[in-house]
Amino acid sequence: MPVTTADFIEKKRKGEKITVLTAYDYLTARIVDSAGVDAILVGDSLGMVALGYKSTIPVTMEEMIHHTKAVVRGRRNAMVIFDMPFLSYQTGIRDAILNAGRALKETGCDAVKIEGGVEQAETIRALVNSGIPVMGHVGLQPQSVNVYGGYKLRGRGEERKRIIEDAKAVEEAGAFAVVLEKIPAELAKEITEMLRIPTIGIGAGKYCDGQVLVFQDMVGLFEDFKPKFVKRYAELGKLAREAVERFIEEVKSGKFPDEEHSY
Ligand code: KIV
Repeated sequence: MPVTTADFIEKKRKGEKITVLTAYDYLTARIVDSAGVDAILVGDSLGMVALGYKSTIPVTMEEMIHHTKAVVRGRRNAMVIFDMPFLSYQTGIRDAILNAGRALKETGCDAVKIEGGVEQAETIRALVNSGIPVMGHVGLQPQSVNVYGGYKLRGRGEERKRIIEDAKAVEEAGAFAVVLEKIPAELAKEITEMLRIPTIGIGAGKYCDGQVLVFQDMVGLFEDFKPKFVKRYAELGKLAREAVERFIEEVKSGKFPDEEHSY
């Protein structure tokens, strides 16, 4: 039985840190699942990381469903969370229920994630009341990049109070966890201590109940830019490029294929 939303709450109660990584395909899902993460987020970051878009805005329900099906086929133990793409829930509660329901029915995922605090509380409540577990997402919300004018740190000055209200609203609406993205560590600490549900940080410091990173960032496959909060645990992009260069060189020089790799 994969990790459940109740396990998330229980881990917070016991003070056990929660680990979440993204995956957008079967092989990556198998790697992160077998390594033992608690949850796999099929993030709409797939737009930038897997599909080459400039932001998450163009990502569609069809793309998310296609990739999430592959991830679900690759997991055994981790919870799979479907990131609701831009305009799949902001247009009204009925749309949100139909799209999130479609995600659960067609992909076999366990929960959905939606961006937004106070303004999405009614939608979260309606989803949960329909039997759809929801992970919230406050602080920096990448689907609002055009409103913010970039991906800057959130939650300083006046905005601090607003983010606390957002996190509380998400919990009160019935979410089982909330992502805190790119906010000061002290603010994340205050929110984490205030909430009963676990906080999952990305660029939100060490006091969160868990951490999430984009897999391709933390293994060094996505090299276009590296935010300060990303720690690279491997340099797979570099390794892969070197392997490809050796392949080209060996094919050109006649070294590959040799006896060992021929019939
Ligand atoms: O889309 C995504 O990958 C995300 C996170 C990294 C939290 O929303």
